[in-house]
Amino acid sequence: MSEEIRSESVIKVHAFDALDKDTQQLVRMAEEAAKTAYAPYSNFLVGAAVVLDNGEIVKGHNQENAAYPSGLCAERVAFFAAHAQFPTAKILKVALTAKKATAASFQLATPCGSCRQVMSEFEDHQKNKITLFISDGKGKVYESDSIENLLPFKFSDEYLK
Ligand code: THU
Repeated sequence: MSEEIRSESVIKVHAFDALDKDTQQLVRMAEEAAKTAYAPYSNFLVGAAVVLDNGEIVKGHNQENAAYPSGLCAERVAFFAAHAQFPTAKILKVALTAKKATAASFQLATPCGSCRQVMSEFEDHQKNKITLFISDGKGKVYESDSIENLLPFKFSDEYLK
């Protein structure tokens, strides 16, 4: 006997101007963060901004290193920094954007698998979904109502118990 398990990811697409002002501001903060990324090897600048349930906003950008695997993505820099500074707060939303160092404008970059894994565990740990907004820098913003939506059939701490 064999069967099929299907999963569906739903992504909403918004015009930037149609977002509420707080979300627009979060996207702008992700752009600000991207501008100062330390990415001298890839020249690919990624910015993240998270908003917490205590109202704080924490930014992150990718941090590269001459020993390449020692660097870290923008999303994980933002999430780990947020938890280090506000360990009891929950992350409600994250905004992402990216830019090539030589480009004039921002572009779309969807989160890598490792960042999806880490952000997804935050959802499990804090027992609250995190809404993800990814700006393409051209007026379109992609929304996922959770991180898990982007990581079906994921590895979780359930297996370790
Ligand atoms: N990068 C991120 O910051 N986030 C991702 O989700 C994917 C990739 C960074 C890592 C590296 O510094 C650069 O983008 C090129 O891969």
